[in-house]
Amino acid sequence: MTAASRGAAIGGSYDPAHTTGGGLSGELARLEAQAELSFAEELHVLRGLGIDTAATVLELGAGPGAVTRRLRAALPGAELIAVDIDPELLAHAEGAADRLIVADAAALPLPDHSVDFVLLRYVLQHVARPEQVLTEVLRVLRPGGVVAVTDVDDGCWGTAHPSYPELAGVHARMAAAQAAAGGDRSIVRRLPALLASAGFDRPVLRPFATTNADHPTEAFAPHLGPQRLEPLVASGDLGLRELALAADRWKRFRTDPLAWVMLLGFTVAATAPAGRGPRKNHRTEGAPS
Ligand SMILES: C[S@@+](CC[C@H](N)C(=O)[O-])C[C@H]1O[C@@H](n2cnc3c(N)ncnc32)[C@H](O)[C@@H]1O
Repeated sequence: MTAASRGAAIGGSYDPAHTTGGGLSGELARLEAQAELSFAEELHVLRGLGIDTAATVLELGAGPGAVTRRLRAALPGAELIAVDIDPELLAHAEGAADRLIVADAAALPLPDHSVDFVLLRYVLQHVARPEQVLTEVLRVLRPGGVVAVTDVDDGCWGTAHPSYPELAGVHARMAAAQAAAGGDRSIVRRLPALLASAGFDRPVLRPFATTNADHPTEAFAPHLGPQRLEPLVASGDLGLRELALAADRWKRFRTDPLAWVMLLGFTVAATAPAGRGPRKNHRTEGAPS
């Protein structure tokens, strides 16, 4: 199944078996490496948004649990619920949360106003209708509860030196393939408006940076290396020559003792308005609390 056809099936652009080189096991390793690289900076932001005071934390699109396990360690006293639409991926998160639930983030089997903090990390960029997810998040959040969306914006991914303008077309091809499958690699710039129109109060943006001053350059391979481009060759979105060009530039970069990279990520957060009364919701009646 191609990314576009699977995206059409589940309404999004994420296909774990075709996201990076090495199929599903390559993707499990990529997600783990990505969490290892930036979770400390992300947690700092989440703490500033009040995650430490949340009794119930809901992670939507938890996947195999790379972040779930880190949240568990950071928040030992919180009830942690991890949700994902993909049962095969979520099975890898066994033991990481108090509850694992296979569900679409746009149709959660959770009662109204039942959680204090919701995290969506690198999920909404893949979802064809993010507004439906945010409406559902607002339903399950307690008044005053917080949603935090950590994601990317291709327009300000970071800086690197040396940089390789000849790879601009390659990266544009990757963004176009994701958009064709219903995703958006520049979703961050739309999030404040999406949150406000879903009914949230006070959207705020918190950037975080990860650099090779703090991590080995090699640790940036999941983001900058050629493996991420391999499925695009298989799907016909990229030529072998472009893949070879990207592989050569990455090799030059990671062996350059003076190479510099700063990767930017963003968390956009907002609050569920206070004073919302209980709402009747037929879909969630009888759902586990
Ligand atoms: C790029 S992975 C990120 C996984 C995890 N959040 C992390 O940062 O390691 C995107 C995840 O979102 C999940 N996902 C995509 N659409 C979803 C939906 N509509 N409802 C729930 N999960 C979804 C995918 O199955 C996948 O596990």
